[in-house]
Amino acid sequence: MKTFLTLGLATMLAATASAADHSFDINVSKKGAPIQSTMYGIFFEDINYAADGGLYAEMVKNRSFEFPQNMMGWRTFGNVKVMDDGPFDKNPHYVRLSYAGHPHKHTGIENEGFFGIAVKEGATYRFSVWARCPEGGTSVLNVQLVDNDSMGESQEMAGCNVTIEGKEWKKYTGEIKAKRTQQDLSLRIFLRNVRGQRLAVTDVEHVSLFPTDTWKGRENGMRKDLAQALADLKPGVFRFPGGCIVEGTDLQTRYQWKNSVGPVENRPLNENRWHYTFAHRFYPDYYQSYGLGFFEYFQLCEDFGCEALPVISCGLACQYQNNIKDEKKVHVALEDLDPYIQDALDLIEFANGDVTTTWGKLRADMGHPEPFNLHYLGVGNEQWDEKDNPAFTSRLKKFMDVLSKAHPEIKYIGTTGPDSEGWKFDILQPKMKELGVDLYDEHFYRNEEWFLGKAKDRDGNPLNCGAMRYDSYDRKGPKVFAGEYACHGKGKKWNHFETSLYEAAFMTGFERNADIVHMCTYAPLFAHVKGWQWRPDMIWYDNASMFKTCSYYVQQLYGQYKGTNVLSCSMAQKPIAGQDDQDGLFATACFDSEMNAVIVKVANVSDDDQPVKLNWTGKSKDLKAGFKSAEQITLSATGMNDENSLDDPLKITPKTEIIAADATEFKIPAKSFQVYIFKK
Ligand code: AHR
Repeated sequence: MKTFLTLGLATMLAATASAADHSFDINVSKKGAPIQSTMYGIFFEDINYAADGGLYAEMVKNRSFEFPQNMMGWRTFGNVKVMDDGPFDKNPHYVRLSYAGHPHKHTGIENEGFFGIAVKEGATYRFSVWARCPEGGTSVLNVQLVDNDSMGESQEMAGCNVTIEGKEWKKYTGEIKAKRTQQDLSLRIFLRNVRGQRLAVTDVEHVSLFPTDTWKGRENGMRKDLAQALADLKPGVFRFPGGCIVEGTDLQTRYQWKNSVGPVENRPLNENRWHYTFAHRFYPDYYQSYGLGFFEYFQLCEDFGCEALPVISCGLACQYQNNIKDEKKVHVALEDLDPYIQDALDLIEFANGDVTTTWGKLRADMGHPEPFNLHYLGVGNEQWDEKDNPAFTSRLKKFMDVLSKAHPEIKYIGTTGPDSEGWKFDILQPKMKELGVDLYDEHFYRNEEWFLGKAKDRDGNPLNCGAMRYDSYDRKGPKVFAGEYACHGKGKKWNHFETSLYEAAFMTGFERNADIVHMCTYAPLFAHVKGWQWRPDMIWYDNASMFKTCSYYVQQLYGQYKGTNVLSCSMAQKPIAGQDDQDGLFATACFDSEMNAVIVKVANVSDDDQPVKLNWTGKSKDLKAGFKSAEQITLSATGMNDENSLDDPLKITPKTEIIAADATEFKIPAKSFQVYIFKK
């Protein structure tokens, strides 16, 4: 009995001691470093069918018949011939549909879409095609959404007729209204003999089908649900178009922004390296139509009210796929770099130039005479210097010499390579400072230990990782852009709650170091459930619906409650960053001048609930506590392996509770991320 009482008292004392230890001193009298509007953003790359088959709402695959196998994605029947002298010089192929040879036979083509075609009951779809009757006369294209597996009387679910007349190429349109909600349809274009009547030979090119209800109702538009999910993140910056696709497996297939602007019918097809990069997830029909191109990216940035951050090729093809020893063969020689630098200059002109300039005029012709107000430009993606060859920095220097003189108003972004540490990083980081870039791009797809600050190198030395990573960074160097990061669970590469929680904990380090961390973008952004090459990803979808992962909600909470200034927040004078004596707590605080609120973000990665006391310090009238209302948002899950899915999209979502405005003592639930908002 005595032992029991003694033990009980000891436990109580320990609990009391622990509560007292978790006193967060938050100085509300002194605004710290400004938090940049660009702090939390989005990184878009056409990986996992993020553009064609994803955000870009086009439903027809290989619409211009330019895939290397011209009819990939199409079934043909009757008399169909591929031609190559079409009206669009950069997409010369088209298809000739001719009489099937008998009045009772038919000619046509049928597109399988991207993993099928999905429609919603009552919604309308805009069919369009460039066509002509090369021998004159008239024909009728009978356009159908078909369910090939249907047990009904007709395979056709909905359709329209489009009459083609004359020898000149013209754009024709038709509207299809879906009679029911259905996935896995095909688009059949039928040159159908009716009552034996022979139809004129018909050429078809750029066959397209879009929902009319796209994001902002644009014709060459984006999927509304996916664009809305991006808007809801309240991004401060939008990096595009990648990623590795910026570099290309070879320079011919690098992303060339000039090919992605102008009339959509004449944007040439590019390969997508993600069709073959992982042979164990192989997608031979994955190409880039460039229908979602630089104009559309800039437009999205404008829609979201965020900064655009285009990244361009620095003249090095993907260094993982090309040995630097073959430098002359696979990369652009230094003396031949001018066209690449010119591409950068022209891009700035396209975005910001007057409508009387060549590229400014194109922007105006595309419907946007006002400048896009570009302020940032990235040069190179995951590049590096070899130990004996400054492959990247020698090229970056040439860009910087020209660009910084021609456009000192732009902020330039270099890179510290593909790794968060190691020899490539160690070579590049000081060089970025020497070259005078404004920010450098860091990438880290790392495991749980790394995100929690416990990772070690092969020799057992601690790595500079976790939420304290930036506390020791050089304050006089370039600013940090954490351009690609995600916690990849060891042996668990899916979007489960545990890794999202560690991302939330880690991100307190971004906020605390907002004086040098100016941007961060989780990666990758999108993934089609039937076409992914890389995971985890932030948002998943099929053709009909989507779901947000718990990592999405972490990003959203940071984006929505970004704050405008950091506030000093410590426990026993130390940053609250999951340090050894901090019981798995991570925390930061900031002031938001627009919301007129103090915001505290806390992650508890431990297995126990943790009592915490918020201790407002400081004297200024401005920020001193005296809050009028407060709320608490909690992101937690029943199981650490839990995840959202198409079947259960809302399994893990943030929950908001109103709390007393003068509350200072809280219990932070085990394995949770919380945001407290105290409004003045
Ligand atoms: O996000 C996926 C890939 O990861 C990016 O294309 C590349 O930059 C990084 O290696």
